[in-house]
Amino acid sequence: SFDEVPGQYKVRSLALAEAGRHQIRLAEHEMPGLMALRAEYADAQPLRGARIAGSLHMTVQTAVLIETLTALGAEVRWASCNIFSTQDEAAAAIAVGNGTPEAPAGVPVFAWKGESLEEYWDCTEQIMLWPTADGGLEGPNMILDDGGDATMLVHLGLAAEKAGAVEADTADGDTDHSEEMNVVRAVLRRGLAADPTRWTRIAPGILGVTEETTTGVHRLYQLAETGELLFPAINVNDSVTKSKFDNKYGIRHSLPDGINRATDVLMGGKVAFVAGYGDVGKGAAEAFRGQGARVIVSEVDPICALQAAMDGFQVARIEDVLGEADFFITTTGNFGVITADHMTRMKNKAVVGNIGHFDNEIDMAGLAKVPGVTRTEIKPQVHEWTFPDGRSIIVLSEGRLLNLGNATGHPSFVMSNSFANQTIAQVEIFTKAGTPDAYATDVHRLPKVLDEKVARLHLDALGVRLTELSPAQADYIGVPVEGPYKPEHYRY
Ligand code: NAI
Repeated sequence: SFDEVPGQYKVRSLALAEAGRHQIRLAEHEMPGLMALRAEYADAQPLRGARIAGSLHMTVQTAVLIETLTALGAEVRWASCNIFSTQDEAAAAIAVGNGTPEAPAGVPVFAWKGESLEEYWDCTEQIMLWPTADGGLEGPNMILDDGGDATMLVHLGLAAEKAGAVEADTADGDTDHSEEMNVVRAVLRRGLAADPTRWTRIAPGILGVTEETTTGVHRLYQLAETGELLFPAINVNDSVTKSKFDNKYGIRHSLPDGINRATDVLMGGKVAFVAGYGDVGKGAAEAFRGQGARVIVSEVDPICALQAAMDGFQVARIEDVLGEADFFITTTGNFGVITADHMTRMKNKAVVGNIGHFDNEIDMAGLAKVPGVTRTEIKPQVHEWTFPDGRSIIVLSEGRLLNLGNATGHPSFVMSNSFANQTIAQVEIFTKAGTPDAYATDVHRLPKVLDEKVARLHLDALGVRLTELSPAQADYIGVPVEGPYKPEHYRY
């Protein structure tokens, strides 16, 4: 069952709003970056007139982001960017806002834990359709995306309208989300039938997108390269205070959180295999080591492989450690990293999960087709897959990102860094649009001075006392006293 008012909100239960509000209040205390931006921009209201369509895990931390955007003057509509990642109490609190469950006055939100793919794409469509005073619909003028699904919907919708049709469905079994893409096409066909010029009207009104994660940024660069990108984009992921913090320290916290809540299997003394040693893989490997596990990493990039080795991890190929590892975690953002064949040869009761953005890192469709395999639900988002020889593996969140499916994602403090970048990026694109400083239709990063600002906003809370350069010292190393302190190519 749901609580819903069509077009206005759809959540699991508004009765959860009070519980959500308490968690939001505590999260605000842990999110000094967002609270500082609220204070800084309270008078200027830089997002007044912005209509932001947000597609990002509807968690307690995201609730603080949403209420920061509205505090800066924006109107917002929100959906989650994953079928399992919504915290229903946070969604309820956002829907209720400062009203009561009987008279909600909050932000339109369409998100609940455990959506079907059809429901997920319906929700994504909902954030694009803003009711107007005269009973019509208009589009957003900004997108805040995590993984690029909202941005993709606009691009595909416009292409379909130009072609006058939605391209044919793909056959099941290809690795590129074929089943999910067919759901997207169904949504587009329905839209095309109802309103054949919807995206033609909406797309030109979009001033830009700010993108949260590695996978979404990858999609944006592809669109820019082929000349298909429709509006300016800010790559929030590659702010240093995002990817070097959220992807690494966030995962270091939320990966073991997800595994513990799902399984209660001890990590200490066990063998953990981590595919990928990028930012997320580094956090994952460190988390396992911190629990006393012996960690084996796989990489395709010789630099990252060497880093892993220097950090003290064994580097090997998955096929060589299938019978050895107790945990298999993918962090690559690539597809087909764990195949069905791999899974049939894993150690009995191995725990298998993914924390990369999409579920195609683990071949779940292939697993379901293994002859004689059976699937037992241990509890939601935890499934035992048993092979005919009696051995079984435990798959978390059906191969979707387990830190948000089995736990509540990254903690507030690290998300304050990510979301301060998001907020600043929204202000940058929205306030500069139409001025000589407007961002061009390309993919941009925030200037380093703003990256350093985000870090500064988080120092006091940790009792950090920064050393100040003397003018002579600043001169000697060739940087301004007030920063930025590093050249663009510096890697931290
Ligand atoms: P990254 O690019 O820094 O790291 C990915 C690494 O995987 C690279 O070093 C690459 O060489 C390696 N790799 C690629 N294919 C491989 C293969 N077949 N076998 C072994 N290694 C392979 O990217 P980052 O920032 O670590 O992100 C990884 C994924 O995690 C992305 O999908 C991103 O969107 C997602 N992400 C998830 C979060 C969460 O909360 N669950 C948080 C942040 C990012």
